[in-house]
Amino acid sequence: MKTTPKPQIIDKFGREHTYLRISLTDRCNLRCFYCMPEDGIELTDKSGIMTLEEIVSIAKTFRSLGVDTIRLTGGEPLIRKNAEWLIRELADLGVTLKLTTNGIILDKYFDLFKEIGLKRINISLDTLEKSKSVFITKRDYFDRIMKNIHTAIDQDFDIKLNIVLIKGVNDMEINDFVDLTRNKNIGVKFIEFMPFKGNEWDWDKGVSKEEILNIVRSKFGEYKKLKDPKHSTSTNFKVPDFEGSFGIVSTITNPFCAGCNRIRLTADGKMKNCLFATAETDLLTPYRNGESISDTILNSIKEKKFSRDGMDVEMKKEHYEQNRSMTSIGG
Ligand code: 5AD
Ligand code: SF4
Repeated sequence: MKTTPKPQIIDKFGREHTYLRISLTDRCNLRCFYCMPEDGIELTDKSGIMTLEEIVSIAKTFRSLGVDTIRLTGGEPLIRKNAEWLIRELADLGVTLKLTTNGIILDKYFDLFKEIGLKRINISLDTLEKSKSVFITKRDYFDRIMKNIHTAIDQDFDIKLNIVLIKGVNDMEINDFVDLTRNKNIGVKFIEFMPFKGNEWDWDKGVSKEEILNIVRSKFGEYKKLKDPKHSTSTNFKVPDFEGSFGIVSTITNPFCAGCNRIRLTADGKMKNCLFATAETDLLTPYRNGESISDTILNSIKEKKFSRDGMDVEMKKEHYEQNRSMTSIGG
């Protein structure tokens, strides 16, 4: 077991940033409407995307500054060419590796993940109905995704399902999702709809944490509050006697920024110190120029705002429209 260097990426509020989310690509094989703008996104030219070697090298710098956990995101991370090589290299850094995926080609990776010890996989699944899945994702992969989810559960991966709730689209399925945790030790994670560039956000379409809890209570009675892990972004609950649990990511109605330990690295090599940050720090250009990027990282984190990039009270359109779309941030 390799020892973890002491945390050094510390912001003005004393928060130690030990969790790096790396977007391996801004491309995706789905087109979820809340994530991708209707007319797609402007994809970064290949020369502007970090090569796999560059990702490993930049990740090593983060590791030396105390990062102990890396989550792979996208777009869809598993469609990145030679992802297997990269994943092995990152696992060799001695960090806890996690993954967020849409699950379409997950089956190609089960053996690798077992070999290198990647256990925690979040899979986006907004509906349990095939026709609705086609409506939400604009593609027809539902059966493959479901098959892969079942295989992953059978093979003892630690699975969480991510569900972005949209009123009139999937809020009527909340209790069906919770019911999945009856006999399966999985987590279902309801995510409040968040605003990004071009996703036509309107909180009238969102479903709040409070509404979700009322809906669960109406069917299953009183749920139990679980103790949340230290830097958890979700508040977690369990229906008594159910094997699994459910959680709520209440970014809009109850932001949980106080314990934030996350940094993001986009596929084009920009460090984002918040999901909603409009300012980004280019790490790839100095890296390619042969400069050390450690100080750049340490300075960048000092600019981090306390909550939602300064949108402490409400989400402001003139702010979030300056951000990227979710598919190029990586969630
Ligand atoms: N609001 C909330 N969650 C979102 N995701 C993508 N777009 C949004 C949004 N607008 C989630 C997806 C995926 C994760 C990477 O981010 O569900 O699971
Ligand atoms: Fe792809 Fe995930 Fe965005 Fe859906 S939410 S389009 S699966 S990146």
